[in-house]
Amino acid sequence: MLKYFDYISIVGTGFYVPDRIMTNFDLEKVVDTTDDWIRTRTGITERRIVKDSEATSDLAIKAGAIALKKAGITSKEIDLLIIATQSPDYPLPSTACVTQHRLGLTNAVCFDISAACSGSIYALIVAASLMKTCNYNTAMIIGTDVLSKSVDWSDRNTCVLFGDGAGAMVLKMNIKGRNLLSFDWGTDGSGVDLLKIPAGGSRSPILSSNLNQRQQYLKMDGKKVYKQATKMMYHSVIRALNHAKLQKSDIDFIIPHQANKRIIEAIAKKLALADDKVMINIENYGNTSAASIPIALDEAISQGKIKDGDIVVLTAFGAGLTWGSIVIKW
Ligand code: UT7
Repeated sequence: MLKYFDYISIVGTGFYVPDRIMTNFDLEKVVDTTDDWIRTRTGITERRIVKDSEATSDLAIKAGAIALKKAGITSKEIDLLIIATQSPDYPLPSTACVTQHRLGLTNAVCFDISAACSGSIYALIVAASLMKTCNYNTAMIIGTDVLSKSVDWSDRNTCVLFGDGAGAMVLKMNIKGRNLLSFDWGTDGSGVDLLKIPAGGSRSPILSSNLNQRQQYLKMDGKKVYKQATKMMYHSVIRALNHAKLQKSDIDFIIPHQANKRIIEAIAKKLALADDKVMINIENYGNTSAASIPIALDEAISQGKIKDGDIVVLTAFGAGLTWGSIVIKW
C-alpha cells in the first residue's frame, strides 16, 4: 500500500513511566524464574509497575503533557486525539475521552484504537490519514498500557515480560522536517489465539466461573509469536521502504517494538544494520505494549541518536496478529 503524508510532521514527543521499579531479582521472589533466564532470553533487567491506584489514563496524561510542552503548543490546539491501548481505564467510555477531559484538549475529537503492541503505529497511520482527509491541523497520539493489571503473576511465561508506560507524539500539518514518508500495515486474524485475554469481553464476561479459571489474564504462545514477530516486522519494514522508494541500506536508525532483545537483533541482522542504528531500551522497561514505540522514539531523540535528515523507521508487531511500519525523514 502506497501512501505519502506530505509534510505531516512529528513536532513533539514525550513519555512517562511509573516510579516503581520491579527488577528481575524482585521477580525471583514472585515466580520460579531467575535474573539470568530473563536477561538472556529477553534482554529485560527491570520494568516499571503502577501503584494500585494508578490507571492507564494517568500515565497517558503525563506523557501527553510532556509532548505538548516539547511541541510548544497549547492543549486547545489539538484537533484529534487517538489513544492506542489494550488496557483501557474502563470498557466504556474510551480512555481517550478520559484523557481529553483531564488534559484540557477541549477542541479534539477523541477515540481509542485496539491493535495491541502495534497500536501506536496504527494510531499514527489513522491520525495522519484523518489529518489529510478532514483537514485537522494538529493531532496527538498516545500509546499507553498498564498490562501489569492483566498479566497472571503466577505465570512465569508472561509476567516477566511486560511493564507499564505511556508515550505520546504531536503531529502537525505543513511543517518541513520529521515528515512521515510512507507506511505498511497488516493484520492476520488467524493468529487471534496466540496472544489474548480470554475473559472480560462479550464472549466470556466477568463471571466468577471465568475468573476462577484465571481467564481474565493474558495468555501467550511465546514461541509462535516470536517466529511471527521476527518474520512480519522484517517484511513490513521492507514494504514500507519500497513505498518510499528506499532500500534497507538507506535506514539511518530503526526503532523496533521492544518485545524481546533477541527479536530486535534478528531483525537488525536481516536488515544488515549495525548496533548503533538500532534502538534498544527493553532492559529498562520490558514490553510496554502500545507505549513501546513512542517511549523508544522519545528516548532516542533525547539521547541524540537521530539527526536531521536521517531516514528513521518505526516497526511493531502485536496481538491480533497486527503489524506495521512507518518511514520518517527526520
Ligand atoms: O509484544 C507482543 C509480542 N510478544 C512477543 O513478541 C513475545 C515473543 N516471545 C518471546 O519473546 C519468547 O518466546 C519468550 C521470551 C516468551 C520465551 O522465550 P523462549 O526462548 O521462546 O522460551 P520457551 O518458551 O521455549 O521456554 C524455554 C523454557 C521452558 O522450559 P522447558 O519446557 O524447556 O523445561 C519454559 O518453561 O524456559 C521456561 N521458562 C522460564 N524459565 C525461567 C519460560 N519462562 C520462564 C521464566 N523463567 N520466566
